[in-house]
Amino acid sequence: MTSFDYDKIVPGFDREAVVNQMKANMSDFRFTHCLRVEKQAQELAEKFGADVSRAGLAGLLHDFAKERSDEQFIATIKKHNLDPDLLNYGNAIWHGIVGAEIIRDELGVYDEVVLNAIRRHTVGSTAMTDVDKCVFIADFIEPQRDFPGIDEARKYAAKSLNAGVAFELKHSIAHLIDKNRKIYPETFISYNYWIDKGEL
Ligand SMILES: [Fe+2]
Ligand SMILES: [Fe+2]
Repeated sequence: MTSFDYDKIVPGFDREAVVNQMKANMSDFRFTHCLRVEKQAQELAEKFGADVSRAGLAGLLHDFAKERSDEQFIATIKKHNLDPDLLNYGNAIWHGIVGAEIIRDELGVYDEVVLNAIRRHTVGSTAMTDVDKCVFIADFIEPQRDFPGIDEARKYAAKSLNAGVAFELKHSIAHLIDKNRKIYPETFISYNYWIDKGEL
């Protein structure tokens, strides 16, 4: 069951207008990925009893800011007095944590459940809600995703939200290390917390 009654969460939210805006301003791959994550997040929410509308809205918007300039992210970090340590990272971290501020400013999305799911979709959190988990996992396993480990990712996601989250954090950290990339501290903290649930 898909549900697009987003105006109940964000008064006046016009999904069609936002989708058209995204289509006009994003690469085709990113735009269609957002639609797939919206649908996948709703399906996971339906299956595991989470809020389907909030999972869908956060899924739709999760990469809304991903193609914005570094300059805009840096200006947004300063404008909203976000943690200055964010300046030591880049787009991969910014588009979620800082992107949520851009989404609130530009689209008038004030729902903290939705904003948190967007903030947490790359680094996770020990405080992840079921909506956060649905978006986090949907981003990783949407139907066009194809990477070594995708079958295992889908298997754990089918088992439980906690297993899906733990596997994704483990896989992402291993991938970043393999590529000699820096790891945002929250990602390690999230990994320690969710791996300890023992669902893998
Ligand atoms: Fe993302
Ligand atoms: Fe994404």
